[in-house]
Amino acid sequence: MDLPQETQPQKLPHFFILPFPTKKDVAYALILFISLIITSIVFCNVLTPFYPRLLLPFSFSKTLPDTQLPGSTNTCDYSFGKWVWDETYPNQKYNEDCPFLDPGFRCQRNGRRDVGYVNWRWQPHGCDLPRFDARDFLERSRNGRIVFAGDSIGRNQWESLLCMLSHGISNLSTIYEEHGNPITKHKGFLSIRFHDYNLTIEYYRVPFLVVIDDPPENSSEEILRAIRVDKLHRFSSKWAGADILVFSAGHWWNQDKTLKMGWYFQEEKTLNLTMDVMEAFAKSLQTLKSWAFKDSDRSYIFFRSYSPVHYRDGEWNTGGHCDRSKAPETDYMNPESEHLNNQIISNVVKEMETDEHKVQFLNITYLTTMRKDGHPSRYREPGTPLKAPQDCSHWCLPGVPDTWNELLYAQLLSSGFKTIRGKHTVLKYWAGAARTQAPTGTNYDVGSTTWADLRLAPLLSAMEVTNLGHGPS
Ligand SMILES: *[C@@H]1O[C@H](CO)[C@@H](O)[C@H](O)[C@H]1NC(C)=O
Ligand SMILES: *[C@@H]1O[C@H](CO)[C@@H](O)[C@H](O)[C@H]1NC(C)=O
Ligand SMILES: *[C@@H]1O[C@H](CO)[C@@H](O)[C@H](O)[C@H]1NC(C)=O
Ligand SMILES: *[C@@H]1O[C@H](CO)[C@@H](O)[C@H](O)[C@H]1NC(C)=O
Ligand SMILES: *[C@@H]1O[C@H](CO)[C@@H](O)[C@H](O)[C@H]1NC(C)=O
Repeated sequence: MDLPQETQPQKLPHFFILPFPTKKDVAYALILFISLIITSIVFCNVLTPFYPRLLLPFSFSKTLPDTQLPGSTNTCDYSFGKWVWDETYPNQKYNEDCPFLDPGFRCQRNGRRDVGYVNWRWQPHGCDLPRFDARDFLERSRNGRIVFAGDSIGRNQWESLLCMLSHGISNLSTIYEEHGNPITKHKGFLSIRFHDYNLTIEYYRVPFLVVIDDPPENSSEEILRAIRVDKLHRFSSKWAGADILVFSAGHWWNQDKTLKMGWYFQEEKTLNLTMDVMEAFAKSLQTLKSWAFKDSDRSYIFFRSYSPVHYRDGEWNTGGHCDRSKAPETDYMNPESEHLNNQIISNVVKEMETDEHKVQFLNITYLTTMRKDGHPSRYREPGTPLKAPQDCSHWCLPGVPDTWNELLYAQLLSSGFKTIRGKHTVLKYWAGAARTQAPTGTNYDVGSTTWADLRLAPLLSAMEVTNLGHGPS
């Protein structure tokens, strides 16, 4: 309906009526505008007494508070902060229907009734995490490869990233395992292709990162395996040249999973029976470092820090549990002393960080330590015997590893990540979804060349099933 004519102002100010403002009008407007700006600057500055330098007008560049600027060197420390309850958080994410989840990580489906664990959002101290933008992440990674290599905690994080990214894609059939292999636990290698982005997100199961071999000839009987700290796993030839590399190692570098099992360390051709586990871990990371400088010098490399376990009243094999934890630790003021693994990892990261190499420490230990409520505990995959140990080392998904990936994304953003080959390309041909295909047998043979590796695989899998050596495998 038209407004009645009377409500219109009878007399408009003359500069509304004239088709072109006069010089005088322009001058008045300019003066008004400038004085408005000056007033607002002065006013704002007076209102922010915490930054005394702000009182000086016209010095904006110097007076911004310490938030991070894109590309600035003064980036935020995302590793420190607190968990906040946020009921809107789960709606921003995937759920247990995500097809890339291991049955063992779908805790609610496995009977977990307290579901508050999905509502906690990580709030870094002094800044915000950028909101995870799946489409942006995918776009930046176009025509690229993202590789996770390491233990099963890395697999946990890999599955989380697959689900977080597939949340940005409407047709899930365009995401599939390249070789038609199903997502189950016992795989040496899986590669998920995001067809529309010509992107693969790969996982390589290499708990030690280096080669596990037969002991040298004539070694004593109790030596069952040689962990060759100066020789990187042969899968490394597949990682080479990936755009993003996320290493996840450390959980196997302990007495239980090495020396106590008869697995000793070897350098060149000889076993070193006195080499200690942490020394061996440091040496293996040096091996990785040399490889990275030589074969993967353009990759964005991340080393994830140690992911803590939460067994209470016992260890993994002596009835330890975590199913009574329904909320994160709050009031967490005194972190236990830094895990030795983290010092070793962060040292090698420091050695590797140069202008040419984009190597970062993904420090998730502090935030993860608080999440005693985030483990599958007794809600393990269907078919797990009732008496089986609780899983207090892996993580329910959706859950804590999503936050690790939010940190990963944030750190990628602050280093300006974008694939070199990231030009827009329209794929003309549909390569054929393989995800519905029946598995072609075990996956141990994917690219397998040596019989030592073939023989080792079932053993590693058996260890995974039994959680040998306290969990993460
Ligand atoms: C990891 O982050 C925590 C929390 O900010 C910090 O206390 C710890 O020193 C960091 N670790 C390393 C090795 O930098
Ligand atoms: C897909 O990405 C690869 C690099 O990973 C590139 O060589 C290839 O040309 C890309 N394919 C298309 C169709 O863009
Ligand atoms: C989803 O993608 C598959 C593979 O490209 C295609 O066959 C199917 O028609 C698509 N479905 C929809 C609803 O677009
Ligand atoms: C291993 O022992 C056998 C029999 O004693 C011997 O012939 C062989 O030379 C030894 N090999 C090495 C590498 O020492
Ligand atoms: C064994 O390793 C330790 C620690 O790296 C080293 O000090 C020692 O010399 C090595 N022994 C042999 C026989 O190489």
